[in-house]
Amino acid sequence: MEEIFDENKQGEALVLEGKTANSRKLFIESYGCAMNFSDSEIVASILSKEGFNTTQHLEDADLVLVNTCSIRDKAEQTVRKRLEKYNAVKRINPGMKIGVLGCMAERLKTKFLEEEKMVDLVVGPDAYKDLPNLIAEVDEGHQAVNVILSKEETYGDISPVRLHSNGVTAFVSITRGCDNMCTFCVVPFTRGRERSRDPQSILEEINDLWDKGFKEVTLLGQNVDSYLWYGGGLKKDFNKASDLQKATATNFAQLLELCAKAQPKMRFRFSTSNPQDMTLDVVETMARFKNICNYIHLPVQSGSNRILKAMNRQHTREDYFELIDNIKRILPDCTISHDIITGFPTETEADHQDTLSLMDYVKYAFGYMFAYSERPGTMAERKLEDDIPEAVKKRRLQEVVDLQQKHSKYRTEQFLNKTVEVLIEKESKKSDMHWMGRNEQNTVVVFPKEHYNIGDFVNVRTTDCTSATLIGVAVGYSENN
Ligand code: 5AD
Ligand code: SF4
Repeated sequence: MEEIFDENKQGEALVLEGKTANSRKLFIESYGCAMNFSDSEIVASILSKEGFNTTQHLEDADLVLVNTCSIRDKAEQTVRKRLEKYNAVKRINPGMKIGVLGCMAERLKTKFLEEEKMVDLVVGPDAYKDLPNLIAEVDEGHQAVNVILSKEETYGDISPVRLHSNGVTAFVSITRGCDNMCTFCVVPFTRGRERSRDPQSILEEINDLWDKGFKEVTLLGQNVDSYLWYGGGLKKDFNKASDLQKATATNFAQLLELCAKAQPKMRFRFSTSNPQDMTLDVVETMARFKNICNYIHLPVQSGSNRILKAMNRQHTREDYFELIDNIKRILPDCTISHDIITGFPTETEADHQDTLSLMDYVKYAFGYMFAYSERPGTMAERKLEDDIPEAVKKRRLQEVVDLQQKHSKYRTEQFLNKTVEVLIEKESKKSDMHWMGRNEQNTVVVFPKEHYNIGDFVNVRTTDCTSATLIGVAVGYSENN
């Protein structure tokens, strides 16, 4: 799914308001996509009931958990380095236990215990409810593993503990897993089959967030457009579902509408959309509700039809253009971002030029760009030779990054000398005199704090910009406030 968080960034230690008396100390770090950060909030919730109190100091921890990412080799190397660090601390504090969660746990399974001898606990993304039992086993001196994938688990009944939160924006997961089987991607193997969460529990979580003062929710899934609720289980079985189930089913456009109506003052975003699954009724629903933000993360991966086919993407370059044209027709001010991979096996210079020309057509507001990294077990690894030299992958990546920089500047400048509505999220990283927030289109806006506060919706007159940030002055509260 979309990397809302930069995968290369350092994981963040998360703080949990836990029990104080007799509690054990948990240090939990997350790497990778937004879904991992969201999952860590579910883990924190499960463990808070077991009396775990979090610490930001690794040295103080009784239990260290790392929520891991397998999407590229580099992400796994980062985690291995962290494991070495944890083990160095464990040598001083032998009572400390170390657990690996998430995609790398799922991919490597017991190999972690056999090869690495660095961890006590290995838990896949669908097994977090088993953590209390697994920790009990570890307490008895055993190693513990649960990497069973589920066709039903959505954690819909767990109320996440908001960790490291700004109190304004939150993630709410709506689907888990992915059935698309893009040939480069390890996600279908690590996160299993696609399943949707009960809309009722989604609405309850959203209402609860609003009551706690949150103002913006991003609905999360590997492929949000394939959201379909008709009572649980696999979507494939929908063909067999009864007429009543079909009549009462909820698709993604309907879910968006339910959310937008439930909290009309709350902003809604979603991620990730898949070109082959995104339907125009989603775009039309976005147009009908002011509180659904006009921003779509729409990964394309490549601009070459031949490469798209080899990637098992179910859309062509032309299909993608048609979708972009429709989005622009229905939502003229909608911004679009992308994921692009350079150097997929067999990619020629002509294929690469197709990617650059596709970018020129769309002029994305921003994007996440990666050199192809072969992942064990994927179709691409089994059937195709990783034949593009690293230097070529990197050079093509740089060309894509440079072009994106140009387009980002072009898109950001479109908001210059205008008044934009901003939701204040936090203090600007560069100045404690300024607030940072985003407009509806997800562009970062920075402006002097004056008398405004975190969580306010304000109108900001923009006066300057860099390629990715608007700079301006607040001219008053917006009507949404
Ligand atoms: N190599 C490089 N990038 C990848 N992605 C997924 N798998 C790989 C891989 N093997 C990228 C895709 C996806 C994003 C989350 O990560 O662009 O959309
Ligand atoms: Fe991976 Fe493709 Fe599923 Fe995205 S849609 S998670 S890239 S398999």
